[in-house]
Amino acid sequence: MRKKYYIETYGCQMNVADSELVAGLLQKEGFGATTQINEADAIFVNTCAVREHAEERVHSRLGNFRILKEKKPELIVGVLGCMAQNLKNKLLENKPYIDVVLGPDSYRKLPELINRKLDRSDSVVDTKLSRFEVYDDLFPSRQTGINAWVSIMRGCDKFCTFCIVPFTRGRERSRPVDSIVTEARQAVAEGFVELTLLGQNVNSYRHEEQGFADLLKAVAQVAGLKRIRYTSPHPQDIDDELLETMAELDNVCNSIHLPLQAGADRILQRMNRTYTRDHFMRLSDRIREILPQVGLTTDIIVGFPGETDEEFQQTLQVLEHVKFESAYTFKYSPRPGTKAAQFTDQVDPEKSQYRLEQLIKLQKQHTLIRNQENVGNTEIVLVEKESKRSSLNWAGRTDSNKWVIFDKGNAQIKDFVAVEITEARGVSLHGKITGVDQ
Ligand code: SAH
Ligand code: SF4
Ligand code: F3S
Repeated sequence: MRKKYYIETYGCQMNVADSELVAGLLQKEGFGATTQINEADAIFVNTCAVREHAEERVHSRLGNFRILKEKKPELIVGVLGCMAQNLKNKLLENKPYIDVVLGPDSYRKLPELINRKLDRSDSVVDTKLSRFEVYDDLFPSRQTGINAWVSIMRGCDKFCTFCIVPFTRGRERSRPVDSIVTEARQAVAEGFVELTLLGQNVNSYRHEEQGFADLLKAVAQVAGLKRIRYTSPHPQDIDDELLETMAELDNVCNSIHLPLQAGADRILQRMNRTYTRDHFMRLSDRIREILPQVGLTTDIIVGFPGETDEEFQQTLQVLEHVKFESAYTFKYSPRPGTKAAQFTDQVDPEKSQYRLEQLIKLQKQHTLIRNQENVGNTEIVLVEKESKRSSLNWAGRTDSNKWVIFDKGNAQIKDFVAVEITEARGVSLHGKITGVDQ
Protein backbone atom coordinates (compact mmCIF):
# COMPACT_ATOMS: atom_id res chain seq x y z
CA MET A 1 0.00 0.00 0.00
CA ARG A 2 1.17 3.50 -0.88
CA LYS A 3 2.11 5.54 2.20
CA LYS A 4 0.09 8.72 2.63
CA TYR A 5 1.21 12.14 3.84
CA TYR A 6 -0.72 15.13 5.17
CA ILE A 7 0.68 18.70 5.28
CA GLU A 8 -0.60 21.69 7.21
CA THR A 9 0.86 25.11 6.39
CA TYR A 10 1.25 28.26 8.53
CA GLY A 11 2.92 31.60 7.77
CA CYS A 12 3.49 33.45 4.53
CA GLN A 13 3.02 32.51 0.87
CA MET A 14 6.63 31.32 0.72
CA ASN A 15 5.58 28.56 3.08
CA VAL A 16 2.59 27.71 0.91
CA ALA A 17 4.97 27.42 -2.06
CA ASP A 18 7.43 25.35 0.01
CA SER A 19 4.68 22.95 1.08
CA GLU A 20 3.91 22.44 -2.61
CA LEU A 21 7.59 21.68 -3.19
CA VAL A 22 7.61 19.17 -0.35
CA ALA A 23 4.43 17.59 -1.74
CA GLY A 24 6.12 17.31 -5.16
CA LEU A 25 9.15 15.66 -3.59
CA LEU A 26 7.09 13.14 -1.62
CA GLN A 27 4.96 12.24 -4.63
CA LYS A 28 8.08 11.65 -6.70
CA GLU A 29 9.13 9.13 -4.06
CA GLY A 30 5.83 7.29 -4.29
CA PHE A 31 3.94 8.84 -1.37
CA GLY A 32 0.28 9.77 -1.91
CA ALA A 33 -1.41 12.94 -0.65
CA THR A 34 -4.33 12.93 1.77
CA THR A 35 -6.39 15.73 3.26
CA GLN A 36 -7.65 13.39 6.01
CA ILE A 37 -5.25 13.59 8.91
CA ASN A 38 -6.49 10.30 10.38
CA GLU A 39 -5.56 8.40 7.21
CA ALA A 40 -1.99 9.70 7.07
CA ASP A 41 1.16 7.66 7.71
CA ALA A 42 3.16 10.89 7.97
CA ILE A 43 1.96 14.31 9.06
CA PHE A 44 3.91 17.50 8.53
CA VAL A 45 3.41 20.99 9.82
CA ASN A 46 5.16 23.76 7.87
CA THR A 47 5.69 26.47 10.45
CA CYS A 48 6.19 30.22 10.89
CA ALA A 49 8.28 31.98 13.55
CA VAL A 50 7.63 35.60 12.68
CA ARG A 51 5.64 36.44 15.82
CA GLU A 52 5.20 34.64 19.14
CA HIS A 53 1.55 33.99 18.34
CA ALA A 54 2.50 32.08 15.16
CA GLU A 55 4.69 29.75 17.23
CA GLU A 56 2.06 29.30 19.92
CA ARG A 57 -0.47 28.11 17.36
CA VAL A 58 1.93 25.45 16.15
CA HIS A 59 2.77 24.33 19.70
CA SER A 60 -0.91 23.80 20.38
CA ARG A 61 -1.39 21.99 17.05
CA LEU A 62 1.51 19.69 17.91
CA GLY A 63 -0.40 18.78 21.07
CA ASN A 64 -3.10 17.29 18.81
CA PHE A 65 -0.51 15.41 16.79
CA ARG A 66 0.82 13.86 20.01
CA ILE A 67 -2.59 12.37 20.72
CA LEU A 68 -2.76 10.96 17.19
CA LYS A 69 0.66 9.42 17.64
CA GLU A 70 -0.31 7.82 20.95
CA LYS A 71 -3.11 6.03 19.10
CA LYS A 72 -0.89 5.12 16.16
CA PRO A 73 2.76 4.78 17.25
CA GLU A 74 4.09 4.16 13.71
CA LEU A 75 2.83 7.61 12.60
CA ILE A 76 5.63 9.95 11.50
CA VAL A 77 5.38 13.54 12.79
CA GLY A 78 7.51 16.17 11.06
CA VAL A 79 8.04 19.86 11.80
CA LEU A 80 9.22 21.88 8.80
CA GLY A 81 9.90 25.54 8.07
CA CYS A 82 10.90 28.61 10.04
CA MET A 83 10.07 27.41 13.55
CA ALA A 84 11.99 24.20 12.91
CA GLN A 85 14.94 26.31 11.81
CA ASN A 86 14.55 28.67 14.76
CA LEU A 87 14.18 26.13 17.56
CA LYS A 88 16.11 23.14 16.13
CA ASN A 89 16.78 20.49 18.81
CA LYS A 90 14.90 22.57 21.39
CA LEU A 91 11.69 21.43 19.73
CA LEU A 92 12.42 17.87 20.85
CA GLU A 93 13.08 18.76 24.49
CA ASN A 94 9.52 18.34 25.66
CA LYS A 95 8.11 16.85 22.47
CA PRO A 96 9.86 13.49 22.01
CA TYR A 97 7.06 12.33 19.71
CA ILE A 98 8.39 14.55 16.90
CA ASP A 99 10.33 12.40 14.43
CA VAL A 100 11.73 14.88 11.96
CA VAL A 101 12.74 18.56 12.27
CA LEU A 102 13.72 20.12 8.93
CA GLY A 103 14.64 23.73 8.15
CA PRO A 104 13.69 25.44 4.85
CA ASP A 105 16.91 24.47 3.06
CA SER A 106 16.79 20.75 3.98
CA TYR A 107 13.67 19.49 2.22
CA ARG A 108 15.55 17.35 -0.29
CA LYS A 109 16.44 15.06 2.61
CA LEU A 110 12.82 14.41 3.51
CA PRO A 111 12.07 11.23 1.48
CA GLU A 112 15.32 9.63 2.64
CA LEU A 113 14.63 10.53 6.26
CA ILE A 114 11.12 9.12 6.17
CA ASN A 115 12.34 5.88 4.69
CA ARG A 116 15.06 5.66 7.35
CA LYS A 117 12.57 6.54 10.03
CA LEU A 118 10.29 3.69 8.96
CA ASP A 119 12.85 1.23 10.35
CA ARG A 120 14.60 3.24 13.07
CA SER A 121 13.17 5.10 16.01
CA ASP A 122 15.54 8.01 16.69
CA SER A 123 14.52 11.56 15.79
CA VAL A 124 16.33 13.48 13.06
CA VAL A 125 17.09 17.19 13.03
CA ASP A 126 18.51 18.92 9.93
CA THR A 127 18.61 22.70 9.94
CA LYS A 128 21.68 23.47 7.94
CA LEU A 129 21.10 26.64 5.89
CA SER A 130 22.52 26.81 2.38
CA ARG A 131 23.97 29.61 0.29
CA PHE A 132 22.80 27.96 -2.90
CA GLU A 133 19.64 25.88 -2.44
CA VAL A 134 16.80 27.24 -4.61
CA TYR A 135 15.12 23.85 -5.37
CA ASP A 136 15.44 24.73 -9.02
CA ASP A 137 15.04 21.25 -10.47
CA LEU A 138 12.02 20.23 -8.39
CA PHE A 139 8.44 20.45 -9.55
CA PRO A 140 5.94 21.67 -6.98
CA SER A 141 2.65 19.82 -6.68
CA ARG A 142 0.31 22.80 -6.74
CA GLN A 143 -3.07 23.24 -5.11
CA THR A 144 -5.80 23.81 -7.65
CA GLY A 145 -7.08 27.33 -8.20
CA ILE A 146 -6.33 30.19 -10.51
CA ASN A 147 -3.06 31.38 -8.96
CA ALA A 148 0.27 29.57 -9.00
CA TRP A 149 2.95 30.58 -6.47
CA VAL A 150 6.46 30.64 -7.92
CA SER A 151 9.38 31.34 -5.62
CA ILE A 152 12.08 33.24 -7.48
CA MET A 153 14.51 33.98 -4.67
CA ARG A 154 15.01 32.76 -1.12
CA GLY A 155 16.42 34.33 2.01
CA CYS A 156 16.91 37.87 3.27
CA ASP A 157 20.06 39.94 3.84
CA LYS A 158 18.31 43.04 5.19
CA PHE A 159 18.34 42.17 8.91
CA CYS A 160 15.60 44.46 10.17
CA THR A 161 16.22 44.39 13.90
CA PHE A 162 12.75 43.01 14.80
CA CYS A 163 12.76 40.19 12.28
CA ILE A 164 13.59 36.50 12.61
CA VAL A 165 13.39 35.77 8.86
CA PRO A 166 17.10 36.33 8.01
CA PHE A 167 17.89 33.72 10.66
CA THR A 168 15.27 31.18 9.61
CA ARG A 169 15.68 31.59 5.86
CA GLY A 170 19.37 32.38 5.53
CA ARG A 171 21.14 34.39 2.84
CA GLU A 172 19.62 35.76 -0.35
CA ARG A 173 19.92 33.69 -3.50
CA SER A 174 18.01 33.83 -6.79
CA ARG A 175 16.96 31.32 -9.44
CA PRO A 176 17.94 31.70 -13.09
CA VAL A 177 15.43 33.56 -15.31
CA ASP A 178 15.13 30.62 -17.72
CA SER A 179 14.07 28.13 -15.13
CA ILE A 180 11.48 30.55 -13.70
CA VAL A 181 10.07 31.06 -17.21
CA THR A 182 9.95 27.29 -17.74
CA GLU A 183 8.05 26.88 -14.48
CA ALA A 184 5.67 29.67 -15.50
CA ARG A 185 4.95 27.92 -18.82
CA GLN A 186 4.33 24.68 -17.01
CA ALA A 187 1.91 26.36 -14.59
CA VAL A 188 -0.04 27.80 -17.54
CA ALA A 189 -0.12 24.35 -19.15
CA GLU A 190 -1.59 23.01 -15.91
CA GLY A 191 -4.38 25.60 -16.15
CA PHE A 192 -3.19 28.47 -13.95
CA VAL A 193 -3.84 31.94 -15.37
CA GLU A 194 -2.25 34.03 -12.63
CA LEU A 195 1.25 33.80 -11.24
CA THR A 196 2.58 35.32 -8.03
CA LEU A 197 6.35 35.66 -7.92
CA LEU A 198 7.56 35.14 -4.38
CA GLY A 199 10.58 36.05 -2.31
CA GLN A 200 11.29 37.37 1.18
CA ASN A 201 12.75 40.34 -0.67
CA VAL A 202 11.35 39.69 -4.08
CA ASN A 203 12.70 42.80 -5.78
CA SER A 204 16.28 42.29 -4.69
CA TYR A 205 16.15 39.41 -7.20
CA ARG A 206 19.41 39.22 -9.11
CA HIS A 207 20.75 36.38 -11.20
CA GLU A 208 23.98 37.09 -13.04
CA GLU A 209 23.25 40.32 -14.95
CA GLN A 210 19.48 40.12 -14.64
CA GLY A 211 17.48 42.08 -12.10
CA PHE A 212 13.83 41.97 -11.04
CA ALA A 213 12.57 44.22 -13.87
CA ASP A 214 14.30 41.94 -16.43
CA LEU A 215 12.64 38.93 -14.86
CA LEU A 216 9.20 40.59 -15.03
CA LYS A 217 9.73 41.30 -18.73
CA ALA A 218 10.65 37.69 -19.41
CA VAL A 219 7.76 36.19 -17.43
CA ALA A 220 5.25 38.64 -18.95
CA GLN A 221 5.88 37.08 -22.36
CA VAL A 222 4.67 33.64 -21.33
CA ALA A 223 1.64 32.96 -23.53
CA GLY A 224 -1.66 32.47 -21.70
CA LEU A 225 -0.59 34.24 -18.53
CA LYS A 226 -3.36 36.70 -17.70
CA ARG A 227 -1.90 38.21 -14.56
CA ILE A 228 1.41 38.47 -12.73
CA ARG A 229 1.70 39.61 -9.13
CA TYR A 230 4.67 39.66 -6.79
CA THR A 231 5.35 39.85 -3.05
CA SER A 232 7.02 41.11 -0.85
CA PRO A 233 9.20 43.92 -2.11
CA HIS A 234 11.36 46.16 0.08
CA PRO A 235 10.97 49.94 -0.43
CA GLN A 236 14.74 50.34 -0.75
CA ASP A 237 14.84 48.31 -3.97
CA ILE A 238 11.95 49.99 -5.80
CA ASP A 239 13.25 52.23 -8.56
CA ASP A 240 11.89 53.97 -11.66
CA GLU A 241 13.02 51.11 -13.89
CA LEU A 242 10.77 48.71 -12.01
CA LEU A 243 7.83 51.15 -11.97
CA GLU A 244 8.18 51.91 -15.68
CA THR A 245 8.40 48.22 -16.46
CA MET A 246 5.19 47.66 -14.52
CA ALA A 247 3.52 50.51 -16.42
CA GLU A 248 4.61 48.99 -19.76
CA LEU A 249 3.54 45.41 -19.18
CA ASP A 250 -0.22 44.85 -19.43
CA ASN A 251 -0.31 41.56 -17.57
CA VAL A 252 1.74 42.76 -14.58
CA CYS A 253 -0.84 43.85 -12.01
CA ASN A 254 -1.08 47.43 -10.88
CA SER A 255 -0.49 46.83 -7.21
CA ILE A 256 2.45 47.05 -4.84
CA HIS A 257 2.81 45.86 -1.27
CA LEU A 258 5.04 48.50 0.29
CA PRO A 259 5.85 47.69 3.93
CA LEU A 260 6.25 50.90 5.93
CA GLN A 261 6.65 49.34 9.42
CA ALA A 262 6.87 52.74 11.17
CA GLY A 263 6.63 56.44 10.34
CA ALA A 264 9.19 58.05 12.65
CA ASP A 265 12.80 58.36 11.51
CA ARG A 266 14.28 57.37 14.86
CA ILE A 267 12.22 54.16 14.93
CA LEU A 268 12.93 53.37 11.27
CA GLN A 269 16.60 53.71 12.03
CA ARG A 270 16.38 51.46 15.10
CA MET A 271 14.51 48.97 12.94
CA ASN A 272 17.32 49.14 10.36
CA ARG A 273 14.78 49.78 7.61
CA THR A 274 17.29 51.84 5.52
CA TYR A 275 14.82 54.59 4.48
CA THR A 276 13.43 57.74 6.10
CA ARG A 277 9.77 58.75 6.41
CA ASP A 278 10.41 61.41 3.82
CA HIS A 279 11.91 58.98 1.34
CA PHE A 280 8.96 56.63 1.84
CA MET A 281 6.39 59.37 1.23
CA ARG A 282 8.22 60.58 -1.88
CA LEU A 283 8.45 56.99 -3.11
CA SER A 284 4.72 56.45 -2.68
CA ASP A 285 4.01 59.74 -4.54
CA ARG A 286 6.31 58.62 -7.35
CA ILE A 287 4.56 55.23 -7.54
CA ARG A 288 1.14 56.87 -7.80
CA GLU A 289 2.52 59.21 -10.47
CA ILE A 290 3.98 56.48 -12.71
CA LEU A 291 1.20 53.98 -11.97
CA PRO A 292 -2.11 55.85 -11.69
CA GLN A 293 -4.86 53.77 -9.98
CA VAL A 294 -2.21 51.60 -8.33
CA GLY A 295 -3.24 49.64 -5.24
CA LEU A 296 -0.77 50.28 -2.41
CA THR A 297 -0.85 48.05 0.65
CA THR A 298 1.49 47.95 3.62
CA ASP A 299 2.65 46.31 6.86
CA ILE A 300 2.87 48.32 10.09
CA ILE A 301 4.29 47.38 13.48
CA VAL A 302 3.14 49.30 16.56
CA GLY A 303 4.91 49.30 19.92
CA PHE A 304 8.43 48.71 18.61
CA PRO A 305 10.87 49.19 21.55
CA GLY A 306 11.16 52.85 22.51
CA GLU A 307 8.26 54.04 20.31
CA THR A 308 6.76 57.14 21.98
CA ASP A 309 3.20 58.45 21.57
CA GLU A 310 4.61 61.21 19.41
CA GLU A 311 6.44 58.73 17.19
CA PHE A 312 3.30 56.65 16.83
CA GLN A 313 1.46 59.81 15.72
CA GLN A 314 4.10 60.16 12.99
CA THR A 315 3.15 56.71 11.70
CA LEU A 316 -0.48 57.87 11.48
CA GLN A 317 0.69 60.96 9.58
CA VAL A 318 2.45 58.85 6.96
CA LEU A 319 -0.73 56.81 6.66
CA GLU A 320 -2.70 60.02 6.10
CA HIS A 321 -0.25 61.05 3.41
CA VAL A 322 -0.21 57.77 1.49
CA LYS A 323 -3.77 56.58 2.19
CA PHE A 324 -2.99 52.94 1.57
CA GLU A 325 -5.65 50.74 -0.03
CA SER A 326 -5.21 48.39 2.91
CA ALA A 327 -2.74 47.46 5.66
CA TYR A 328 -1.64 44.48 7.72
CA THR A 329 -1.12 45.71 11.24
CA PHE A 330 0.90 44.00 13.99
CA LYS A 331 1.83 44.51 17.60
CA TYR A 332 5.59 44.19 18.00
CA SER A 333 6.51 40.72 19.20
CA PRO A 334 10.05 40.24 20.56
CA ARG A 335 11.86 37.39 18.79
CA PRO A 336 14.71 35.90 20.84
CA GLY A 337 17.98 36.16 18.93
CA THR A 338 17.09 39.39 17.10
CA LYS A 339 18.69 42.70 17.98
CA ALA A 340 15.45 44.44 18.96
CA ALA A 341 14.66 41.74 21.53
CA GLN A 342 17.67 43.02 23.49
CA PHE A 343 16.44 46.61 23.60
CA THR A 344 15.55 47.45 27.18
CA ASP A 345 12.79 49.96 26.47
CA GLN A 346 10.00 47.55 25.48
CA VAL A 347 6.59 49.24 25.18
CA ASP A 348 3.77 48.42 27.61
CA PRO A 349 1.44 45.87 25.90
CA GLU A 350 -1.67 47.89 26.79
CA LYS A 351 -0.20 50.90 25.06
CA SER A 352 0.59 48.81 21.98
CA GLN A 353 -2.96 47.48 21.97
CA TYR A 354 -4.36 51.00 22.10
CA ARG A 355 -2.10 52.11 19.25
CA LEU A 356 -3.12 49.09 17.19
CA GLU A 357 -6.78 49.99 17.59
CA GLN A 358 -6.13 53.62 16.56
CA LEU A 359 -4.23 52.42 13.53
CA ILE A 360 -6.92 49.98 12.44
CA LYS A 361 -9.58 52.66 12.82
CA LEU A 362 -7.71 55.10 10.59
CA GLN A 363 -6.87 52.46 7.99
CA LYS A 364 -10.54 51.44 7.75
CA GLN A 365 -11.39 55.01 6.79
CA HIS A 366 -8.67 55.05 4.15
CA THR A 367 -9.73 51.70 2.68
CA LEU A 368 -13.25 53.04 2.33
CA ILE A 369 -12.04 56.31 0.74
CA ARG A 370 -9.88 54.38 -1.74
CA ASN A 371 -12.68 51.96 -2.56
CA GLN A 372 -15.14 54.79 -3.09
CA GLU A 373 -12.83 56.14 -5.79
CA ASN A 374 -13.75 53.08 -7.87
CA VAL A 375 -17.53 53.56 -7.62
CA GLY A 376 -18.98 54.45 -11.01
CA ASN A 377 -15.96 53.03 -12.86
CA THR A 378 -15.89 49.89 -14.95
CA GLU A 379 -13.15 47.59 -13.70
CA ILE A 380 -11.60 44.54 -15.35
CA VAL A 381 -11.91 41.68 -12.89
CA LEU A 382 -10.52 38.14 -13.09
CA VAL A 383 -13.20 35.72 -11.89
CA GLU A 384 -11.61 33.70 -9.07
CA LYS A 385 -14.30 31.94 -7.04
CA GLU A 386 -17.84 31.87 -5.82
CA SER A 387 -18.68 34.56 -3.27
CA LYS A 388 -18.75 33.23 0.30
CA ARG A 389 -22.02 35.03 0.96
CA SER A 390 -24.06 33.94 -2.08
CA SER A 391 -23.88 31.18 -4.68
CA LEU A 392 -25.40 33.63 -7.17
CA ASN A 393 -22.30 35.83 -7.11
CA TRP A 394 -18.69 35.57 -8.23
CA ALA A 395 -15.73 37.10 -6.40
CA GLY A 396 -12.63 38.31 -8.17
CA ARG A 397 -9.97 40.99 -7.95
CA THR A 398 -9.18 44.14 -9.88
CA ASP A 399 -5.58 44.36 -11.02
CA SER A 400 -5.07 46.83 -8.15
CA ASN A 401 -5.86 43.89 -5.84
CA LYS A 402 -9.33 44.89 -4.62
CA TRP A 403 -11.97 42.22 -4.15
CA VAL A 404 -15.16 42.70 -6.16
CA ILE A 405 -18.45 40.82 -5.67
CA PHE A 406 -20.81 40.69 -8.65
CA ASP A 407 -23.58 38.67 -10.31
CA LYS A 408 -22.40 35.57 -12.19
CA GLY A 409 -23.90 36.52 -15.56
CA ASN A 410 -22.62 33.97 -18.06
CA ALA A 411 -19.02 34.25 -16.87
CA GLN A 412 -16.86 31.34 -15.71
CA ILE A 413 -13.95 31.12 -13.31
CA LYS A 414 -10.71 32.38 -15.00
CA ASP A 415 -12.62 34.75 -17.33
CA PHE A 416 -11.79 38.42 -17.48
CA VAL A 417 -15.00 40.38 -17.00
CA ALA A 418 -15.98 44.04 -17.06
CA VAL A 419 -17.76 45.03 -13.87
CA GLU A 420 -19.46 48.35 -13.25
CA ILE A 421 -18.73 49.22 -9.62
CA THR A 422 -21.89 50.29 -7.84
CA GLU A 423 -20.92 50.27 -4.18
CA ALA A 424 -17.99 50.21 -1.73
CA ARG A 425 -19.01 48.26 1.35
CA GLY A 426 -16.76 46.98 4.16
CA VAL A 427 -13.43 46.07 2.57
CA SER A 428 -14.77 45.04 -0.83
CA LEU A 429 -16.43 46.47 -3.91
CA HIS A 430 -19.77 45.41 -5.34
CA GLY A 431 -20.89 45.70 -8.94
CA LYS A 432 -22.75 44.52 -12.02
CA ILE A 433 -21.19 42.49 -14.77
CA THR A 434 -21.29 44.31 -18.11
CA GLY A 435 -19.15 42.12 -20.33
CA VAL A 436 -17.21 38.85 -20.53
CA ASP A 437 -13.94 38.26 -22.34
CA GLN A 438 -12.75 34.66 -22.18
N1 SAH B 1 10.09 40.47 3.84
C1 SAH B 1 8.89 41.06 4.17
C2 SAH B 1 8.34 40.76 5.55
C3 SAH B 1 8.13 39.41 6.01
S1 SAH B 1 7.43 39.33 7.61
C4 SAH B 1 9.10 42.53 4.12
O1 SAH B 1 10.15 43.05 4.40
O2 SAH B 1 8.12 43.16 3.85
C5 SAH B 1 5.85 40.08 7.36
C6 SAH B 1 5.57 41.21 8.27
O3 SAH B 1 5.54 40.76 9.61
C7 SAH B 1 6.62 42.32 8.29
O4 SAH B 1 6.47 43.20 7.24
C8 SAH B 1 6.38 42.97 9.63
O5 SAH B 1 5.42 43.99 9.54
C9 SAH B 1 5.82 41.84 10.48
N2 SAH B 1 6.79 41.41 11.48
C10 SAH B 1 7.99 40.83 11.28
N3 SAH B 1 8.60 40.60 12.47
C11 SAH B 1 7.77 41.03 13.43
C12 SAH B 1 7.82 41.09 14.86
N4 SAH B 1 8.89 40.66 15.52
N5 SAH B 1 6.77 41.60 15.53
C13 SAH B 1 5.67 42.07 14.87
N6 SAH B 1 5.57 42.04 13.53
C14 SAH B 1 6.60 41.54 12.82
FE1 SF4 C 1 12.38 40.63 7.75
FE2 SF4 C 1 13.26 43.00 7.01
FE3 SF4 C 1 14.02 40.84 5.67
FE4 SF4 C 1 11.50 41.69 5.48
S1 SF4 C 1 13.33 42.81 4.80
S2 SF4 C 1 12.18 39.59 5.81
S3 SF4 C 1 11.12 42.48 7.54
S4 SF4 C 1 14.54 41.32 7.77
FE1 F3S D 1 6.87 33.10 8.81
FE2 F3S D 1 9.04 32.13 7.78
FE3 F3S D 1 7.27 33.29 6.24
S1 F3S D 1 8.89 33.18 9.71
S2 F3S D 1 6.40 34.83 7.58
S3 F3S D 1 6.96 31.45 7.36
S4 F3S D 1 9.49 33.35 6.01
